[in-house]
Amino acid sequence: MPWSACFMAERTRGGSGRIGGGRGQERPGAATAAADRSAWDMAPGLDVGSGTRDGGLLNSYEAEPDRVAVIGSGNWGSVAARLAATNARRLPYFQDEVRVWVYEEKLSNGELLSDVINKTQENVKYLPNVKLGPNVVADPNLETAVKNATMLVFVMPHQFIEGICQKLKGKIRPDAKAISLIKGMEMGDDGPRLISREISEQLGIDCSVLMGANIANEIAVEQFSEATVGYRDDKETADKWVQVFGTPYFQVTHVQDVEGVELCGTLKNIVAIAAGLVDGLGMGNNTKAAIMRIGLKEMILFSKLLFPSVQDATFFESCGIADLITTCLGGRNRKVADAFSKHGGKRSFDELEVELLNGQKLQGVLTAKEVFGLLKAKDWEESFPLFSTVHAIATRHLPPSAIVEYSERAPRKIVLV
Ligand SMILES: NC(=O)c1ccc[n+]([C@@H]2O[C@H](COP(=O)([O-])OP(=O)(O)OC[C@H]3O[C@@H](n4cnc5c(N)ncnc54)[C@H](O)[C@@H]3O)[C@@H](O)[C@H]2O)c1
Repeated sequence: MPWSACFMAERTRGGSGRIGGGRGQERPGAATAAADRSAWDMAPGLDVGSGTRDGGLLNSYEAEPDRVAVIGSGNWGSVAARLAATNARRLPYFQDEVRVWVYEEKLSNGELLSDVINKTQENVKYLPNVKLGPNVVADPNLETAVKNATMLVFVMPHQFIEGICQKLKGKIRPDAKAISLIKGMEMGDDGPRLISREISEQLGIDCSVLMGANIANEIAVEQFSEATVGYRDDKETADKWVQVFGTPYFQVTHVQDVEGVELCGTLKNIVAIAAGLVDGLGMGNNTKAAIMRIGLKEMILFSKLLFPSVQDATFFESCGIADLITTCLGGRNRKVADAFSKHGGKRSFDELEVELLNGQKLQGVLTAKEVFGLLKAKDWEESFPLFSTVHAIATRHLPPSAIVEYSERAPRKIVLV
């Protein structure tokens, strides 16, 4: 049986059997809007499983089609815009145009990035050689980019989110819904703040999250992968987000565990730094698997200590174990940590980020710093030897080899000087 048929069979067993962009379906704690490619291509918008159009979603959209805006246009932002634009073209309950806010940059040939995207349909800097779609409009003006949008997709390095939210205050529709694709967290005076919470509180709107094993360049060329939407209590909106992003090659499920999903996406970047360090030391797969296992345990413990509502099952969705694996095998955090380790920790992460990532931003080092701040404040370092050690290595208080020099059974307290 081809894989697409397997997915169809699984979906049919599990519930409505809808495919082709139908409403997401629940498996224990999850829903999926996956599709068989041929059915999806030949019958856009059709609910193939039941023979009805999109499980009734269409009716609820008849009054006013949703308008999607994407805030951010880096590597993942461009792919997110491409996915949303594909669905906006084929589904009647979305307006065709998907506007993307571009942090304006002058390219080496003197042209502006937004002009080039509009001229070529390509983000030549962050996602070269991939067409975003004829209905994508790049807009360097934040206010016009989000005008009249009912669905706001936030996707940028997390260090910029606070400033962007400040600028968006009073500029968005009060009934807009948001989703964050951002991996990272901020430390406020009152403790850690998840990005979805920051967006919700600053703008007064609902904010879900989408995380998963999603290396952007692979999804850009339509290689099969999965993602998880985490929502708080608005399942109807979670269904809509599944519609915005789901395609036959990008299978999106939803779970009611916004914090669990977001923490998975955020914390795995610290583990990816550890995996890269191990690669740079020339160690093999056993070592990397051990690092991933220890890292996953720390991810689960940290998430549950902060948010007791976080569910174990979330770690087995795409946002959990699958994202951890892909990030530790590929991805920018692993890559830069590998180089850091190969240079014996003599060149800084900042320097290597500039040299190796062409304007893309590292997340793991910053997240490790933010997490370590909390571990220290709570006196939890001994329970998180891997997270603590990654931070100590990244700040050059320990050599890269320290990543394999602790025992989980007898963790030592790391004292930073
Ligand atoms: N790239 C991936 O494969 C991937 C996959 C999943 C999730 N993510 C997450 O998505 C988020 C966005 O990553 P990305 O890959 O789209 O971006 P990126 O790292 O490729 O690019 C950096 C972006 O930041 C913008 N920028 C630079 N300075 C800025 C400023 N002062 N204010 C606002 N924006 C500024 C740049 O224009 C560019 O769009 C991150 O949280 C990342 O962890 C990335």
